Amino acid sequence: MAKFPITLSRFIIEQQAAHPEATGEFSVLLTQIGLVGKMIAHDLRRAGLNKILGTTGETNIQGEVVKKLDQIANDTFVRVFEHSGLVCVLASEEMEKPLKMVHEGAKYMLLVDPLDGSSNTDVNMPLGAIFSIRRSKLGQRQPVEDELLQRGTEQIAAGYVLYGASTMLVFTVGQGVHGFTLEPSIGEYLLSNENIRIPSKGKVYSVNEGNYHRWPSGTQKYLDSLKVQDKATGRPYSGRYSGCLVADVHRILLGGGIYLYPGENDKPEGKLRLMYEGNPLAMVVEQAGGKATTGTMRILDVEPKALHQRVPLIIGSAEDVSQAEAYIQGRA
Ligand code: AHG
Ligand code: MN
Ligand code: MN
Repeated sequence: MAKFPITLSRFIIEQQAAHPEATGEFSVLLTQIGLVGKMIAHDLRRAGLNKILGTTGETNIQGEVVKKLDQIANDTFVRVFEHSGLVCVLASEEMEKPLKMVHEGAKYMLLVDPLDGSSNTDVNMPLGAIFSIRRSKLGQRQPVEDELLQRGTEQIAAGYVLYGASTMLVFTVGQGVHGFTLEPSIGEYLLSNENIRIPSKGKVYSVNEGNYHRWPSGTQKYLDSLKVQDKATGRPYSGRYSGCLVADVHRILLGGGIYLYPGENDKPEGKLRLMYEGNPLAMVVEQAGGKATTGTMRILDVEPKALHQRVPLIIGSAEDVSQAEAYIQGRA
């Protein structure tokens, strides 16, 4: 008899068997994230036909134009979690302040980038969602930011949904990284990549080369070094940049390599957000054996000051990230 496919719920419950302190609620929380993935994937499959492309005409706290799909994705997270009884606070790239959910005593806090890669919405290119899960010890009986703004090492789970050729849910609860592929015909996520390990070194780099002239010289020298002919070190590397962090990091997680959104001369903090892009992806990549740094320190050790603070992100295979750090720190 063919091996019965392992569903997300079964896998999480089996994972919890090894960790009795994690209650069944956690498996429901991850399943709810999967539900958001199914709902957004459904919208995206026909986005060109149901008038949900384009912009809302608003700009968000990031000062970025809000795409209709950004708003739809954010609202879907709110609708799925506000009455779930699992999450006491939802923080999102698309909302200036964290949103208190109905059940103030719920034990988890959820931070999301509800739609990652928004510049891809109208051109049918890959998109993602990124999530970070934290424990709330005090519920809502305290200024929410105090409990939210903890270092990435305090996350209890993190992951992403990739809206690509197939819809995938990739997450870690601190016991390795596992990938599930949505089987649309039955609406179930089935285990497709158990215990993902990132190669220690790759031959792909992912960066917006258009910003080259804005980078400090160490960063420029690192990127230059990837382009010289050097068979011994597998150079030159291939450039692959999709405009969606989740898609680029997913490629690197499976095949090795490095993604960079570095600090720039006039924007040393870079573009990506620490709390719901850098931290969750850093947890995933470290759990798979890779590294994630600002260029000078480990992403997961950054002390957050503000919910939407930006951070330079250099993430991927351990050897490649260490090499980039050496150049950026002038040690190469
Ligand atoms: P978001 O759509 O959530 O704002 O994220 C976009 C991010 C990331 O997904 C992507 O790698 C990067 O911004 C692209 O930025 P540039 O267009 O400046 O290269
Ligand atoms: Mn994003
Ligand atoms: Mn986004």
